[in-house]
Parts: sequence; structure tokens; C-alpha cells
Amino acid sequence: MKFSTSTTTNPAVLAVDTLLVGVFEGEVLDLVGAGEAARAVILATANAAQRQASAEGFKGNAGEVMVHFSDNRLAAKNVVFFGLGARAKASEASFRKGLTAALKRAKSLKAEQIGFTALDAVSVAGIDNRALAETIASYAAMIDYVMNHQKTEKGGHKKEVRFKKLHLIVDAATLEDVAAGLNSGFAIGKSVNYARDLANLPANVLTPSAMAKHAEAVAKASGGTIACTVHKTKALKKMGANLLLAVSSGSSQPPRLMDLLYTPVAADHDNKPPVAELTIVGKSVTFDSGGIDIKVNGGSRNMKRDMSGGGVALAAIQAIAALGLNIKVRAVMAATENMVDGSSYRPGDVLKSMNGLTVEIDNTDAEGRLTLADAIEYAKRQGDKNIVDLATLTGAVKQVLGDVGACAFGNHDDFTSSVVAAAMSQDEKLLAMPMWEEYKSANNTDMADLKNSGGMPGSTTAAYFIRAFAGEEINWVHLDIAGVAFRDRELGPDPRGATGFGVRTLVALARRMASV
Ligand code: BES
Ligand code: MN
Ligand code: ZN
Repeated sequence: MKFSTSTTTNPAVLAVDTLLVGVFEGEVLDLVGAGEAARAVILATANAAQRQASAEGFKGNAGEVMVHFSDNRLAAKNVVFFGLGARAKASEASFRKGLTAALKRAKSLKAEQIGFTALDAVSVAGIDNRALAETIASYAAMIDYVMNHQKTEKGGHKKEVRFKKLHLIVDAATLEDVAAGLNSGFAIGKSVNYARDLANLPANVLTPSAMAKHAEAVAKASGGTIACTVHKTKALKKMGANLLLAVSSGSSQPPRLMDLLYTPVAADHDNKPPVAELTIVGKSVTFDSGGIDIKVNGGSRNMKRDMSGGGVALAAIQAIAALGLNIKVRAVMAATENMVDGSSYRPGDVLKSMNGLTVEIDNTDAEGRLTLADAIEYAKRQGDKNIVDLATLTGAVKQVLGDVGACAFGNHDDFTSSVVAAAMSQDEKLLAMPMWEEYKSANNTDMADLKNSGGMPGSTTAAYFIRAFAGEEINWVHLDIAGVAFRDRELGPDPRGATGFGVRTLVALARRMASV
């Protein structure tokens, strides 16, 4: 994403091709509350637009848009009026809904320079201009996403029209806040798109070692705030990461365990040990064939995206560092393929995990929880006490919330609630699921401390497996993102394919936990 942002208090310098104007239901073009700058721009076009609105029946419902092709009194070619619903019911959610529709319409108009005005007019209780600007910039970036496909000009591919500039007209008093909001919004949107890129990359390109290279590159670009350590096979053997190594054993690609630690500049001079206050563990299976329990009937078609959680972990720490949040954050990714060959691990194998618990392999396709078990033990050995894991863990989670929301499973309700609240504040739908103890015994087996697949409900028993490794002492939440990490349809600001679900949740969570 290359586009630039700017702010001005002077509508006369408005140099955009498409202007986006939010309007509340029934208040079309009533600019009471809009700043002077906004008024001047919109009044120039108000009469014609008002007539068009009544002719077309545009009411200003949330998500409704009306394109007004302006006359030469206005610098912008097109004005996209977008509905925000009733003012009395206005919320951050209704603003996001209207904004998404407006930006998508601007995209279909092939807009390159988009402008926003009347921020004051659309702001609702509790949301300041800074937050609005952040939302606008992050959504513009997310909606501008183009998949990193490998179509060529030779094959007849024409370059997509991209947003080049985002311009906000605001009143002088809020200029600085708005500029700050735009900056942070862009950083967040860019990281969401990075997570999408990683998950959309084919498995022949994004191998475990390629993922390690990405982690190193993110650290290098952080200006010294992120330190990256990559553990290779020898080190993994030494630390006893036998579950990760077992999953990896059928692959010709060696595994990698990446540990990224972000330390805010403000904390640079304290001599505390490198313990993170928030740890993000992301499932990083770069391809899941199922292993000996091989996936059939096209079940592996999307399994290049089984590293979505790891991509989100990497993108989230990148965003948190870009924002300079005052909190130490670690991201851990245990990257491997799950493949089939003569050295693959087998159903019935018994393995000793890094943590010491023994595991009987019930199904080699339940590999994610094995990699997470060792990754979580690794984080615990660093002294970390607040762990969020994100994983495309079970197909069963789609039976619960479809492709709309993710399920959260945790061992301490307070922490789980704060993760859910952070997610919902970003319109990333997350539901806390019960972990009734009656489910726990599903992972029992005669042969070992536990087995890696324990029947129904599949997502909960999987969570119980991971919980055995997280233990009860530390805060731990597991997000099963198998339904939302990628979709075969567009939804809200997400394109088809990888969504980057979780990046915005993690940034919001880190913000809540950070000391200011
Ligand atoms: N990566 C899959 C889960 C998955 C399925 C993610 C579909 C996204 C879309 C995971 O490793 C898996 O295979 N899970 C099994 C577990 C079972 C063998 C206990 C599943 O869900 O069927
Ligand atoms: Mn699997
Ligand atoms: Zn998997």
C-alpha cells in the first residue's frame, strides 16, 4: 500500500476525484454540527444532491450509498454520500458499516484520490476525531487490498486501480489529532494486509524457513524495537520440542520456531528480564495435508492458509511496534508442514512434549494443537504470563459461528473477557465458549497422559488439549479462527481469501493492556 494521506482546513485546496460524505438518516445534507470547512464544500453541491436523493429514495440508512456526479462548482468529480443510520442510534459499528459501503463504492468508481469531510458532523458520542480518522485510514487500506496473485501482463492481466491518496478536510482544532489517527490507522491497515498476503501465499513459496525470513525482515524494519530469534531443528531437538518435530517429520522442509520480542523504547533502559506482558502464539502450519490421516475430497485445497494464525501474530507485533505501544509483546510461531512420507509420524505413536506430558497420536490431522502445545511451553519458559493463541484449529468451529465469528476458549474469565471486548470493539466477532469440565476427559487415553483428538464438540476438546499445556497458573486464551481466517466470499472490509482476522483485535488488546 503506497497511498499518502493529508489533512487540511481549507476546502479550496481539495484535490481529490471522489469525496465521501456521511449523512444520518433523514438528515440528508443537513450539516448542523459540521465544521465551517465541511459546510463550504458540501453546500456547493447540496441542492442538486438533495433533489437526487429524493428522486432515488436515498434515506441515509447505514450501508446505503448514493453517488452524485458533481458539477464544476466542486473540485471532486464524484461525491459518494453514505448513510449512517439514525443519529440517535449511531455507534462505531454503524459508522464502520457506512464507511465500508462508501469505500467499496469509491473502489468501483475507480477512485484514486479520496477525500472525507464533515467528520464533526458524523462523529458520535464517545468517538473522537482521532479514532474516526484511524478507522477511516485502516478501512481505506483494508478495502484497497489486492491479492498478491501471480497473474501476469503476458497472461492478459491489467493492473488494478488503487487508492493513491486519502485526504481529510477538518477544522483547525482537530488537525493534529486527525493526522495522528490517520498514521496509526494506516499502520494497522497495512499490517492487516500483510497478514492477508502471508496467508494467501502458496505453500511452495511460504515454507517454514520463508516464514522465518519474514519474521527476521519485520524485526529488521522495526528500527531495533523488535528482536527476532529463529530456532532451527538442532535447537528444537535440544529444547525437546518433540510434538513440533513429529508433525514436521514427514516433510522435506525443516521446521522453524520464531520468537519475536517487541520492547517499547520507553522500556529500553530497564534491566528486567525479557519477559513479555502479552504473548501471541500463532498456528503456523504452512501446509496441512492431514499427514497419514490424509485429507480427502478436496479437504487440503485451502491448507496453504493453515498458517493464518502465525501470519496474524507476525502482522500484529509489526503493528504494535509501528504504533509504539508501551507494552512488551512477544510473538511465537512454530512453523512446519504436515506431510505424508516414510518418516511421517503415525497414529498410535506416543511422544513426549517439551512440557513433559506424553501424548498419544489419535489422528495425525490434529496437528495444530501439537505445534501449539510446544509453542506455548516455549513462551512459558520465557516467563510470559498472558498468552493469546490464534489457530485455524478445527473445521468444527464453522458449525458454531459459520464464517462470521471466531470462538474463544480461556482458563481465566477476566482475561478472556478483555480479549472478547477488544475484538468486538474492532468488529471482529468473537464469542467466549464454555469450558465445562465434563469435556476434559475426552482427551484421556490408556496409553499416555492425553491423546490429540477427543471427539465432540471438536473445537472444545481441542481447546482442552491446549489447556493441558497452558496450565491454570497463567492467563491463556485460544481463538479458533478456522471459520474466519479465510472465506470464499467478501464480508465487510474483508476480501475473498485470507482476511487477517485478529490483527485489529490484538492491537486493541495491547492498547488496553499497555501502560501510558
Ligand atoms: N487445519 C485443520 C482445521 C481446518 C479445517 C482449518 C478447515 C480451516 C478449514 C486442522 O488441522 C484439522 O485438520 N483439524 C481436524 C481435527 C480432527 C482430526 C480432530 C478437523 O477439524 O477435522
Ligand atoms: Mn489438520
Ligand atoms: Zn491444520
